[in-house]
Amino acid sequence: MTEKKFARESLTTMTEMVFPNHTNGLNNLMGGWLMYWMDIVSAIAAQRHANSIVVTASVDNISFSEPIKVGDVVTLRAQVTRAFNSSMEVYIEAWTDAGFQLFDGSVY
Ligand SMILES: CC(C)(COP(=O)(O)OP(=O)(O)OC[C@H]1O[C@@H](n2cnc3c(N)ncnc32)[C@H](O)[C@@H]1OP(=O)(O)O)[C@@H](O)C(=O)NCCC(=O)NCCS
Repeated sequence: MTEKKFARESLTTMTEMVFPNHTNGLNNLMGGWLMYWMDIVSAIAAQRHANSIVVTASVDNISFSEPIKVGDVVTLRAQVTRAFNSSMEVYIEAWTDAGFQLFDGSVY
């Protein structure tokens, strides 16, 4: 029998600090590190929903709206927003302690 679940049960929050090994030549966070953290937080949310190992099939277009400096604290939050037959859609938000939202628009 399929277990009924609420989207909020998949809510996953992850907090990271930006260290020098995360940065580019401008001492800003490299986009690839942010995408790595996005991949992890969304995988945990999806696994919580599916009770199963998941893989990332595709990612929406991502536009980074703010540079993130060494020492900044970044919080990412992911939640399953739709479940299909064997796949899920996960919504991701990310912001710094200073209150900067890190994406232009929404990212799934
Ligand atoms: C994603 C993957 C499992 C799909 O395999 P597939 O044989 O095409 O599977 P199917 O055609 O049966 O599709 C399975 C589901 O995935 C969805 N899907 C497949 N490709 C997708 C894509 N590019 N974007 C979004 N959803 C996708 C299908 O719509 C389907 O959803 P549904 O069952 O809810 O209707 C396969 O392409 C894969 O393993 N890719 C590598 C994933 C990976 O390693 N990610 C880490 C980054 S390298």
